[in-house]
Amino acid sequence: MARRREEPLDLSSLEMPVHVAIIMDGNGRWARKRGLPRQAGHRAGAENLRRIIRACVEFNIKVLTIYAFSTENWGRPKSEVQALMKIFARVLDQETGELNAQGVCVHHLGDLTGVDPKLQEKVRRALELTRDNTRLILNVAFNYGGRAEIIHAVRQMLADGIQPEELNEGLFSSYLFTKGLPDPDLVIRTSGELRISNFLIWQAAYSEYYPTPALWPDFGREELYEAIVAFNQRERRYGLVTEESS
Ligand code: IPE
Ligand code: IPE
Ligand code: MG
Repeated sequence: MARRREEPLDLSSLEMPVHVAIIMDGNGRWARKRGLPRQAGHRAGAENLRRIIRACVEFNIKVLTIYAFSTENWGRPKSEVQALMKIFARVLDQETGELNAQGVCVHHLGDLTGVDPKLQEKVRRALELTRDNTRLILNVAFNYGGRAEIIHAVRQMLADGIQPEELNEGLFSSYLFTKGLPDPDLVIRTSGELRISNFLIWQAAYSEYYPTPALWPDFGREELYEAIVAFNQRERRYGLVTEESS
């Protein structure tokens, strides 16, 4: 695919969100619009992810979390699930070296049990190879669900004998897959859907939401820039009052 010439973007006047999270939705509709099978949309979506990771590095975003496969997505037709697993395996084979060269540190959010052992091995290799990188942390939410994450955390806390009076929000957060990372500042959902679909339901309690009608394979560097411009226009009040209204 020919790379579009990249427009220079004015980054100097923007405050960058530290952590951006993306619900990468709309691959199926992107394919349908072109009379292609859904799998072709997933391939285009995977291709787009390279552009967005590159843009995050360029924009100096520190943490990018992407929703790649939910605990609910196992319920899709077997052929689609198989195609998605094949794409993940291929992306890991082809992209891990490049991610490492860009200084990306890959983390996994979710549960690998039940996933094909060969794919598990590829994930572990990517985590191991990139573990010391610091330019961008890339959290891949794969076989991830916010509710499953909370149940997992509670089980661990019970197993560790945490007492009721010890529990607080900080301790709880340290049992989540995102432990040690800041909460997302900005959550983007492509394809015009206005729901959270079990994504980071604890961590995104005070994130700014940015729904966009763009389908994921069409959401590029400039669309990400637009989302950050919109983020800069938000006023984050965290339940307080602003000076003008008080
Ligand atoms: C998002 O695109 C990719 C995954 C959920 C894996 P969809 O496959 O959900 O695309 P639509 O929503 O059907 O267009
Ligand atoms: C959310 O998209 C999951 C991912 C992007 C991986 P879905 O397409 O699965 O969500 P719903 O079905 O619209 O809620
Ligand atoms: Mg969808």
